[in-house]
This record gives sequence, structure tokens and C-alpha cells, in this order.
Amino acid sequence: MADPADPGHSCHCSGRADHVATPGQARRHLLSVSDLGRQGIEELLSISDAFVEVQQRAIPKVPALRGKTVATLFAEDSTRTRLSFETAARRLSADVLTYGISGSSASKGESLRDTLETLAAMGVDAFVIRHPSAGVPLQASRWVDASIVNAGDGAHEHPTQALLDCATLRQVLAERAGESTAEHGVAGFEGLRVTIVGDVRHSRVARSLVMALHALGARVTLVAPSSLLPVSLDSWPVTASHDLDEALPSSDVCYVLRLQAERGSSARVPSKAEYVARYGLSARRVARMGPDGLVMHPGPMVRGLEISSEVAAMDRCLVRRQVANGVTTRMAVLFWLLASGPSPSTVASHASALLAGDLDSFTPRDLEAASVERADAGGTGDEVMEPVGG
Ligand code: MLT
Repeated sequence: MADPADPGHSCHCSGRADHVATPGQARRHLLSVSDLGRQGIEELLSISDAFVEVQQRAIPKVPALRGKTVATLFAEDSTRTRLSFETAARRLSADVLTYGISGSSASKGESLRDTLETLAAMGVDAFVIRHPSAGVPLQASRWVDASIVNAGDGAHEHPTQALLDCATLRQVLAERAGESTAEHGVAGFEGLRVTIVGDVRHSRVARSLVMALHALGARVTLVAPSSLLPVSLDSWPVTASHDLDEALPSSDVCYVLRLQAERGSSARVPSKAEYVARYGLSARRVARMGPDGLVMHPGPMVRGLEISSEVAAMDRCLVRRQVANGVTTRMAVLFWLLASGPSPSTVASHASALLAGDLDSFTPRDLEAASVERADAGGTGDEVMEPVGG
């Protein structure tokens, strides 16, 4: 853990986020939940919390990444992930470049590597990459001198989805405990019983979420027909079942996955009607969980298939909240990657101070002093925050 007061520590966690990696200096990436571990997940959840307050302001914008450029490069369809990353980057005052395969030189035969190097030459600090092939974000991290965020690579991983799901659960668990999220921490995850139902085999969401939930102490059950489970579950810290009705009474959360038709799931179920009958989440099935049972879905929902409209409309269905937390979680990830230079720990410990002060004039040491002063004065820091308009 780097010490911000260490004179050898060259990062300036100012609002200008003016850390520039020199050749040979490692950039930070978010490629997999396994990059984070429990500590990293907790760190990002607490940064995300700080941004929830920003999100509620009349002008939900801070200058933390002014001068930085974030490029979204999506080679697969997306609504929530791309728009929430772009919203997150703008709310941090970064410049945003949007790259889509259609309408670009990829259609003329330009390779992905050439495309990335071209954009990097324009001065991109972070690439948010979605690609149908597993491993592309990792490869990209070797090609360009920029931070890489995996926004979904094939059926492999989708780490920011797992983070936003954990942020959402943490909020609800804290509310139920009558505590703030900061007070509650991740205590509510210990022993939490989460059932993930649907097309686990093709789901990058499931892979990332299982890792994150396991790291936080939850117990995960996967429910699907054998044809939609991974070939081997040996390395997965889960139990598996083929019977949703049996799994639900002992579930605190039912997390529903979409059938990934674009990855061949339709050929793996006898018929949609049979799938709905055995695995579709209906109101009758939700009732098996008891009154506190929660429902989650990463979106896009296919109503009438994996989830009924009635369930999607229930208060206990957290889908809209997941989307809202998608923005704050992605703000946290971009901030963590770009605002802190080589010291991730400084970001978490100073997140509140960063949000409450004049970011342009602070150095890490100032931030530490500022947070101590505010605590001494009993202030929240809101009184000195100057949001940036535009
Ligand atoms: C994804 O990109 O994996 C989505 O968030 C979930 C889905 O497409 O079903």
C-alpha cells in the first residue's frame, strides 16, 4: 500500500488527475474481478457510495477527471453499459470518445490493434472495451499505454456489472439493518444466499458475480439445466441445482440471467415454453422466497421468458436501482483507474475529501489534512463543494 505522504510517491491526486504514465510505468486496469479481491471490491464500493451523493445534486458533475479522455470501444451491442460508462466519464468531467464498429474503419479491414493504437495516439487515458471474444481487454492492455476496463468479453467476465450488483445489494442490506452503507460495510454479505438462475454457461455476468459474492462471504447456488451450466464447475465456489422451485425457499436473492441467444443458448433448451415452465421467474415462484426475497437482473430483460412482467414490476425487483448504481459504480472505477496514479489506496481513503473540496488545488497530503479538518469541525464538506456546470 503506497503512502501518500511518502516523498517518493509521485502521484498527484488532484482534480486534474494529472498523473501520466511514463513508458514502463504500469497502468492500472480492471480486467477481472479477480484483479480486485475482497479489499479492492470494498474500496470500489465505498468510492461508488461517495458518488451516490454527487448523483443526487442538481448538477451531478465534479471535475475529478478534467483533462482525461475516456474512449468506449464496443464491438457488441449494449445499452446500459456503454451509456452508463459515458455518463460516468462525463460526470467526472472527462472527455469521451465513442467508437462503434459500424461507421468506423473496422469495416475497411483495420485490425483491432491498429484501431486501439490509433485512438491511443489521440491521447486516450482509458479504454472501455466490449468484445465478443474472451481475452480481448487483456490483449489490449498489452498493446496500448492506457488503462483498460473490461466491459464484457465474450462469455468470460463483466466486472463492473458484478460491482454494481454488489453496490445495489449493499445499499438494500444496509437500509434493512437501519444503517448507512458506510456503517454497514459488507457485513450483510456474510452467509447471504444468492441463487443465480438461467444461462450460466454463456454468462460473463455470472462469472464475475460469483467471484465477487464469494469474496464478500455470500453463498451462491447456480440453477439451470445441465446444458446451460459450465462444462465443469470444479473451480467455481458454488453449489448447483436443476430445480428452481426447490432452490427458492432458501434464497435471499434470486438473480435472473437472460438466455444468450447470440451465443447459441436456444439450441440448448428443448423449447422456450419448457424453459419458462421450469426456469422462468414468475410471481408464484417469487412467493416461494418469502416476503424479503430480492430479485435482480443485469438487463436486458426478456419479459415472458426468463422473468415475467409482474415480477419485473415488483418493489423487490432491483433492476432500476442496479442501472442507477451502474453510473456511480463506473464513476468509481474510472476515478480509481485515472485519478490516483500508482496508489489505489489513496483514492479510497480520500474519496470523500476529493468530492468535498476544490479538486484542482489538492495534493494527496492536502486531502488527508482536509478530511481531518472537516472531521474536527463536524462538517460534511458539502458546504465547500463547487460542482462544475455544463
Ligand atoms: C451483458 O452484457 O452480459 C449483459 O449485461 C447481460 C446480458 O446481455 O444478458
